[in-house]
Amino acid sequence: MSNESVFEKEKLSLWLNDDIPHDFPTLGKEESCGICVVGAGITGITTAYLLSQLDLDVILIDSHSPMRLTSGNTTAKFTFQHGLVYSKIIKKYGQEAARLYYEAQVQAMNFVSGLVKDMDIPCDYKKTYAMIYAENDKQFEEIREEHEAYRKLEIPGELVRDLPYGLTGVGGLMVEDQFDLHPVKYLSFLLEKLKERKVRIYQDTRAVDIRESDESSLIVTEGGHTIRCTKAVIATGYPFFDGNGFYFTRLAPYRSYLVAMPRPAEGNTDAMLITHSSSPYSIRFAKTNDIEYLLVGGRGHKVGQETSAKDSYQNLIDFGRNNFGVDDVAFRWSAQDYESLDSIPYIGALTSKHPDLLVATGFRKWGMTNGTFAAQLLTQTITGKTTRYDDLFKPSRGEVKDSLGKVMKENLNVAKEMFKGKLLSSKTKLEDIGNDEGGIIRHHGKRTGAYRDMNGKLFLVDTTCTHMGCELEYNNAERSFDCPCHGSRFTHEGKVIEGPALEELKKAGE
Ligand code: FES
Repeated sequence: MSNESVFEKEKLSLWLNDDIPHDFPTLGKEESCGICVVGAGITGITTAYLLSQLDLDVILIDSHSPMRLTSGNTTAKFTFQHGLVYSKIIKKYGQEAARLYYEAQVQAMNFVSGLVKDMDIPCDYKKTYAMIYAENDKQFEEIREEHEAYRKLEIPGELVRDLPYGLTGVGGLMVEDQFDLHPVKYLSFLLEKLKERKVRIYQDTRAVDIRESDESSLIVTEGGHTIRCTKAVIATGYPFFDGNGFYFTRLAPYRSYLVAMPRPAEGNTDAMLITHSSSPYSIRFAKTNDIEYLLVGGRGHKVGQETSAKDSYQNLIDFGRNNFGVDDVAFRWSAQDYESLDSIPYIGALTSKHPDLLVATGFRKWGMTNGTFAAQLLTQTITGKTTRYDDLFKPSRGEVKDSLGKVMKENLNVAKEMFKGKLLSSKTKLEDIGNDEGGIIRHHGKRTGAYRDMNGKLFLVDTTCTHMGCELEYNNAERSFDCPCHGSRFTHEGKVIEGPALEELKKAGE
């Protein structure tokens, strides 16, 4: 397949290509339960799994089908090495906090490893090492600082000068005994267990609001139905309900890209690698259906703030070709992640005023371990237990005050995008848009999103984001309209794909 033909295909991850059959109904009636888990990615599915193991009454819902967003589109690395996070946490919160973060990740990894082993889950589990590596001496000095943090925290890790696969660079920090797997196979197994335990699961059921009363909460869905519950877990990536928690001021949405390139079966497939740079490349290997793949991810950017997503894919393909000598691309896809202000996820009560609404978000692209840990921590909270992790991860911790500079920076970025979008005069004309192309045009004097499908049918949408009114940009590789402010994304028909927006875009007249 030529690289250009890759872009003609719908994007589909290596994992979701396996077409694992899950067909759950859409909510079509009023429901009630003890705990409603909203979002069927790794956090939601694992939470439902742990709660149902305790015989608690659980409903799990998702706006798409399970795993269709970030969890089905991840690199699926299970490692406690999350960039240079430990030196960062030590500087901000001290050694004890950094050690707790590490222990949280190890606890999550042990849980998944144990489960895969005990239940013999067929999910291509592979033990391997992880390494962050430097391309120049300055980066290596920062990695050396991280190694020093490891030493203080008694985290096992070794500085090395030789890089595997002949990669260009000056050295890295390696940790042993990490693992990767096929996330859709793993989570599908948990979903099967949920079915056996009679957990009610609804797909294509978008939660749009929560109404609270003294004793219960009412989850309101787009279809007009409700689920009454005593507790709710919001595991939707970006929380669909804010509850005056001002998450839009303290979560930054990022989009990143992945390609899977087939490689010879006899090749070495050890290692999960990542470069330490402002725009890191993430590398791993996967063998599924008897084919070996090199996976290259990266080119992360704020949602809606990249000029060409196609160029991002091309950059990853070039990296694979230049470093591993592979040329073909079998799959390409992208994922959305959210970053908190202090690199530590928000896990716990949505706000101090909402103890029965629990949230987990801000995993900073490390959702396999953070999402699993979130499920473990929220299960403890729901069952009335306090843990030594609560204060570090609680969403209402004092970082908004402490990280005022970062809050200002994020929100200045949002303000800039909002202002820029309103001023932008597009040079693209309607007649310039060919079949299977889209863009932002001036139409009847208004900024308008246009897309023409394969058959020439034209779709026009108002580009004003239904969340808080920023102007959307066209994403040429995903064929979507993306919001540069808080990351909402819409199809060419204006339907919500993901992000905080809950309402469709208005149609624009022809
Ligand atoms: Fe907030 Fe678009 S996502 S304005």
